[in-house]
Parts: sequence; C-alpha cells; structure tokens
Amino acid sequence: MRDFTVLGIETSCDETAAAVVRGAAPGPGVILSDVIFSQLEEHRPYGGVVPEIAARAHVEMIDGIVERALADAGLAIGAVDAVAATAGPGLIGGVMVGLVTAKALAMAAGKPLVAVNHLEAHAFSARLSEGVAFPYLLLLASGGHCQLLAVEGVGRFRLYGTTIDDAAGEAFDKTAKLLSLAYPGGPAIEALARSGNPKRYKLPRPMRGREGADFSFSGLKTAVRHLTLAEEIDAADVAASFQAAVIDILADRTRAAMAMFRRDFPQCAVASFVLAGGVAANGAIRMALGRLAADEGFAFRVPPVRLCTDNAAMVAWVGVERAQLGLFDSLGAPARARWPLVSKSTAA
Ligand code: KG4
Ligand code: ZN
Repeated sequence: MRDFTVLGIETSCDETAAAVVRGAAPGPGVILSDVIFSQLEEHRPYGGVVPEIAARAHVEMIDGIVERALADAGLAIGAVDAVAATAGPGLIGGVMVGLVTAKALAMAAGKPLVAVNHLEAHAFSARLSEGVAFPYLLLLASGGHCQLLAVEGVGRFRLYGTTIDDAAGEAFDKTAKLLSLAYPGGPAIEALARSGNPKRYKLPRPMRGREGADFSFSGLKTAVRHLTLAEEIDAADVAASFQAAVIDILADRTRAAMAMFRRDFPQCAVASFVLAGGVAANGAIRMALGRLAADEGFAFRVPPVRLCTDNAAMVAWVGVERAQLGLFDSLGAPARARWPLVSKSTAA
C-alpha cells in the first residue's frame, strides 16, 4: 500500500492541535509536524475545562496552528492526500470549530475529508508509534473514558469492559481537586505521590475480582472525600494511596480482559497489550501494567507520553488508515458530543 500524507486537527477538549503525518498501515508512521496549543492557563482559575472558554480559544487559535503544522512539515495544503479532524466525542463547541475548519480546507483544496472518532485516534496511537498489528487488547484510559477493548481493525472493536461511573482520568482530576491541587489533576497527583506512602491510607478497590472487566471509580473518590473531611491528612500519602488503588483496579480489570482476549483470539501467537489515553502518561501506571503484561505473556506497547495525551498526530494517523481504505466522509459529517466506539447492541 502506498504512503498517505494527512493533515489532522484536534479540538475536542482543551488542546488546539494540528499535525501532518505520513505513512501506511500498520505503521509506524512519520510525524512530519505536531503542533499543540494547550489552553491550561485559560481554564486553571476554574479548576477544570469551561466549554465556552474552550470553544472561543479554539476559534482564536486554530487557523494559526494549522498554518504552523503545514509550515513545519514543509508542505502546502495541496500536497496532502486528505484532511482529518476529530468529529467527536467531546465538547461540542470545540469539536465544531475543528471539524468546520477541516471541511473548509478540504473544500477549498479539493481534498477528501475524514471525520475521526477521537477514541479511535487514541486506540490507534500505538500503530502510529509502534506499528502494532491487529488484533490487540487496548486499555483506553482518559479524562472521559475508561474502556478495555479488542481492536480488530479500522472501525472494528469488541468491548470487554467500561466504567459504570467515572473515567480513570476524571477520578484523578476530582481527587486532585479534593486535595486542592492544580488542574489538570493527573500530573499533579503523580508528582505528589512520588513523595508519599501508598500504604498509609486504606482505600477501596471497587469491582476488583468481579466477573467481567467493568470499572468503577466513584467509590474511590468518595472515600478520599471522607478522608479529607474526617482527619488531618497528609496530601502526599493520600495521593500515593489513591494512585496505588487506581493501579490495582486497572491491573485487576486488565487481567480479566486478557483472559477474554485469549479466549477470543487463540490464534494470536504474540498477543499485544496497548495502553493509551491521557492516563497512560502516568509513569507508575505504565510500569505496573508493563509488569502485568510480562506476567501474563502479553507484549506491552505504549506510545510515548506526547502521543498519550490529546494531540493531532493520532487524528492524522486515523486519517491515513481510513484514507487507505477509501473511507472518506461527506462535508455534511456531523459533530457529535457522544460517539461510542462500540454500539450497545453489538457489544460482546
Ligand atoms: O486523553 P486526554 O488528554 O483527554 C481526553 O480525551 O480525556 O486525557 C486527559 C486525562 C485527564 O483526566 C488527566 O488528568 C489525565 O488524562 N492525565 C493523567 C496524567 N496525565 C494526564 N492521569 C494520571 N497521571 C498522569 N500523569
Ligand atoms: Zn483524548
């Protein structure tokens, strides 16, 4: 299959990003440019992402970011094969900004459009970075999602488990707020946990040992809240104890999904386990899940940190994979606030 070159745009949350990627399935691809503007400072005073502020910041930034991505790649828009943009799921105002920009560029330059599912972009990030072959087991842990899936192909996913309440990243963010740490919570908790004692506080591990591979994090967050109300706490010890609980939950549920994956794909000689999404930026989580994979005989593949948190290179990469298959979208493709990878009726 020939190489495709795709411009990707990402605006579903609080990063305005554009990137140009070249390659062919199964990867790895070449990242020709990768521009990210993080709106952290705009949202920090509010302790979380404010949708209206995010949408306006995307509008202000997007044209310049796209221009820079093309300039860094040394390409004019006429030299790309397709324009890809996140079309959901995410904050609808932001998604619309990126998608409309992509449509305008595609129309003006006469290029096909790829409307990308942000979750598929996270799911395929390890193909962009490592060229991981289908099928593989994926733990996608981000601010909005926590899912275990078999990734079988473009648009082909089998759901093993999902969170019944909060996402893993959301648990980090909410716990950080309880500890009065700065937004975003994940990196703040990870940093604080380094100097804390993970055995100091006994925190629950909801769903551990349960049948299936579903997650639950809200009880953990509630336990942290009770702790902060009941006693004079040591924040570093709470952060370390919280992170240890999250690791135990993720490892237990992943172990269960590994058995399901083995059952479903017995012909897979070397089964791969991919960790992706913003929470995959956490060093302690990467290490613990790497150990689990080794124990269970899975090859552990995790993208570099920059490709774990939101970025446009992973969006461009889905554009490459879909363009190769001729899977383009019309200029009428809708922006979607919700867009599950697996619809309930087809879930395994
Ligand atoms: O994938 P992502 O950038 O955006 C979404 O699609 O949600 O993930 C953001 C989430 C946030 O909840 C953030 O706190 C979490 O990923 N995160 C981390 C770390 N870095 C980001 N969680 C734990 N440890 C980290 N180092
Ligand atoms: Zn994301």
